[in-house]
Amino acid sequence: MRSVFFEQCGAPIEVLRFREDAPKPTPARGQVLVRMLASPINPSDLLYIEGRYGLKPQLPATPGFEGVGIVEASGGGILGWLRQGKRVAIINDRHGNWQEYTLTSARQVIPVPPEIPDDQAATFFVNPATALAMIRHVLRPPPGAWLLQSAAGSALGKMILQLSRLDGFRTINWVRRPEQVDELRRLGATEVLCVPPEELPEQVHRLTGGAGVPFAIDPVGGAVGSAVVRSLGTGGRALLYGLLSGEPISVDPRFLLRGSKRVEGFWLADWVKQQRIPKLVRLFRQIRKLLQHKTFQTEIAGTYPLDRIHDAVRHATTMGRNGKILLRIDSSSADRGSI
Ligand SMILES: NC(=O)c1ccc[n+]([C@@H]2O[C@H](COP(=O)([O-])OP(=O)(O)OC[C@H]3O[C@@H](n4cnc5c(N)ncnc54)[C@H](OP(=O)(O)O)[C@@H]3O)[C@@H](O)[C@H]2O)c1
Repeated sequence: MRSVFFEQCGAPIEVLRFREDAPKPTPARGQVLVRMLASPINPSDLLYIEGRYGLKPQLPATPGFEGVGIVEASGGGILGWLRQGKRVAIINDRHGNWQEYTLTSARQVIPVPPEIPDDQAATFFVNPATALAMIRHVLRPPPGAWLLQSAAGSALGKMILQLSRLDGFRTINWVRRPEQVDELRRLGATEVLCVPPEELPEQVHRLTGGAGVPFAIDPVGGAVGSAVVRSLGTGGRALLYGLLSGEPISVDPRFLLRGSKRVEGFWLADWVKQQRIPKLVRLFRQIRKLLQHKTFQTEIAGTYPLDRIHDAVRHATTMGRNGKILLRIDSSSADRGSI
């Protein structure tokens, strides 16, 4: 079968390889064999290949944490049997989705209804679940409260804007490119700032009448993450959930002490492990509904077959690409709508 893999961690463009003769895997009890249709290139996939992610690859490894596919066989167990033949969103933290066939636990495939096209089903879990978990389960900003977010033009940032419309909190959005300002306003952003990071806290204090924000989320780190934290008001709480800049944040402890401000990390994989099954089932239902109603939509900037993995990665790491890059693994998936 066709497969993308890497034998050592490093820059994705240098270490990723494509092969057509990988052995088709066999599912063990509790696992399902999934014929992959499509899988996105997410920032977490790139960090994993670089060896900078929270989960370390067992080399040689195939990347791809999420995607959509069809369950072809079950290795045994009632859940796997129930999933056979179904089109599913697949979460895979061991075997990787950037290949024709993959294995995962039967508990990590979620049937998706036909109205959700392959490109949206392929991005079903990571960003929607993170947006919902951070906003509705961890921070819970009440209607009218301010939430500051950086990298607001990201796929996830746009989902936060949709949640702000539904839940009534107000957003201050920081972006690095002025082209994104109008688009985010159209999507419902209350305020959009495209200023150097060192000016952000002052601008945020101006917009909030000198109070600073009670809630903030940052996936960038470095100067941007530091400025986001310095924009907090008394009792404010910031979640750091990414490392797009690759740089550490720097904050004067005195700033955090005054007004008991909190800075916390958020990682979906950890959060999911701490939740009970019924809560996760409710979360999946919520995501399905938000996708069916097109409230959550992931824009697709380009699709590539597996054998063009280097072009795909180059595109995925281009500044201002405006949408996700998707690997189209089964070419017949092009017939099912948006891909
Ligand atoms: N902690 C978790 O569990 C979790 C779960 C899901 C996602 N995440 C994180 O959430 C973030 C967004 O994910 P996504 O899939 O929505 O991303 P995405 O759609 O690929 O977008 C990335 C965005 O980040 C901006 N960006 C990239 N590098 C930057 C930098 N150095 N400084 C400022 N902005 C930068 C890009 O701006 P341009 O448009 O200008 O290029 C783009 O708007 C990622 O960091 C990802 O790892 C974390």
